[in-house]
Amino acid sequence: MLFRSETDTEVIVQLVDYFVVNQNMTTKNAFLKVLDLISVDSSYAFVLVDRTTPDVLYVAKYKSPLLIGLGDGFNLVASDAIAMVKRTNNFMEIQDREMVIVTPTDVQVTDFAGNIQKPVTFKLDIDPTASDLGAYPFFMLKEMDEQPAVMHKIAQTYFVQDGELILDAKFLETMKQADKIYLVGAGTSYHAGLVGAKMFEQLTGIQAEAYIASEFAYDQPIMVKKPFFIFLTQSGETADSREVLVNVKKQGWPSLTITNVAKSTLSREADFTMLLHAGPEIAVASTKAYTAQIAVQAVLAKGLGEYLNNANAQNFDLRQQLGLVAVGMQTIIDSKEQISELANKYLVNSKNAFYIGRGTDWTVALEAALKLKEISYVQAEGFASGELKHGTIALIEDNTPVIGIITQQRTAALTRSNLHEVLARGASVITIALSSLAVPEDTFVLPDVDALLTPLLSVVPAQLLAYYTSLGKGLDVDKPRNLAKSVTVQ
Ligand code: M6R
Repeated sequence: MLFRSETDTEVIVQLVDYFVVNQNMTTKNAFLKVLDLISVDSSYAFVLVDRTTPDVLYVAKYKSPLLIGLGDGFNLVASDAIAMVKRTNNFMEIQDREMVIVTPTDVQVTDFAGNIQKPVTFKLDIDPTASDLGAYPFFMLKEMDEQPAVMHKIAQTYFVQDGELILDAKFLETMKQADKIYLVGAGTSYHAGLVGAKMFEQLTGIQAEAYIASEFAYDQPIMVKKPFFIFLTQSGETADSREVLVNVKKQGWPSLTITNVAKSTLSREADFTMLLHAGPEIAVASTKAYTAQIAVQAVLAKGLGEYLNNANAQNFDLRQQLGLVAVGMQTIIDSKEQISELANKYLVNSKNAFYIGRGTDWTVALEAALKLKEISYVQAEGFASGELKHGTIALIEDNTPVIGIITQQRTAALTRSNLHEVLARGASVITIALSSLAVPEDTFVLPDVDALLTPLLSVVPAQLLAYYTSLGKGLDVDKPRNLAKSVTVQ
């Protein structure tokens, strides 16, 4: 057969056409035949239309997300519910290896052998206006501004009954059995897991470690006897994370998904779900989902720690701390002008930048660097500040921007000494320091909060620096090149 295209979706259409024209098949049977021919190792989400019957959609998926939206006199197909909430709040799941025929008034689900399947439908209560831009120029700015409200929302949602933290007992009992917590995520969600691991260890005494999903899927470490998996994912649709979850289920290991999207694939497939309650996140650069992921992990770590009678958890007033975080975030957000000036002075015309810190501050440095590079295309690296002198300091020259994050008492002096080393080599140094550790020369001072929660504040100036750098370069902040909001391929 002659290939007329190198684009996979076009090849599929050609193949369907081939069976219809040369083997006299109906469109439906030709589609089924093609689905059968495609290797089960691939992933796909298809909506096929035959131009002679434009009201009929032939739909199938394998591993990739796809959902039917059910309307009155119309039906919709999209990869997630957010895309359809302005039209409907009724949805129907599609399972792998099913074929669905959608018309304006009917949805018929069969397996590949033609047996009728009973579909699962669900309702979602999402405010359709939550994904409107309003008066904002970009969703990223709106979403950063929403962070204090998200902190309040998380506190209100999880601290019920006179401010008491209530979590599902069955879930806590399952987690209690674990001898290690594995936190799995990609990109920003992985960075949130790095912060979470420290909170779980301190508040529960259970060993915890964060893993990059795409690495864990193909390079699994030696496992403990009783692992518990936490999947961190804003969208709930990330293919790399799902690949790990599929294997976790095969092994019979218990799992929880922490996600912003109820009924998303990873939420449906894990044993338990905790929601971020952050509202739809539209900008490709994740901001409020990162801070919400940290806050929800703190809720869980405290709840589990109390269940285990851990003194650190018992003495940690998380509800009050989340209130302080919300106020602190607002103070930082109100200093936008200062951050915009810093971005224009140090980053807009720079080719590269370094974020440095130790421990928790290093994990925030990783996230800060990711934010800057993905939307401003400035080559940025997040670095463990003690490692600089082991090689990377060779890159520091006149005016290289180095941003130091200093929020932990134990390591503050050490990071400051690393900043002196780069200053001596001509770097332009910006510091983001916690008030109680600040010195008069610090560029940006953060209000004090508990040491476990400082990432919730130190990341905000870094998010804003990335935003204003992208804006200063005249780029499309919300839709950076080469990136998609949900990464549904491995
Ligand atoms: O939806 P998820 O949280 O699973 O997405 C994971 C990453 O693709 C995502 O966090 C990505 O790194 C962000 N767009 C970065 O801002």
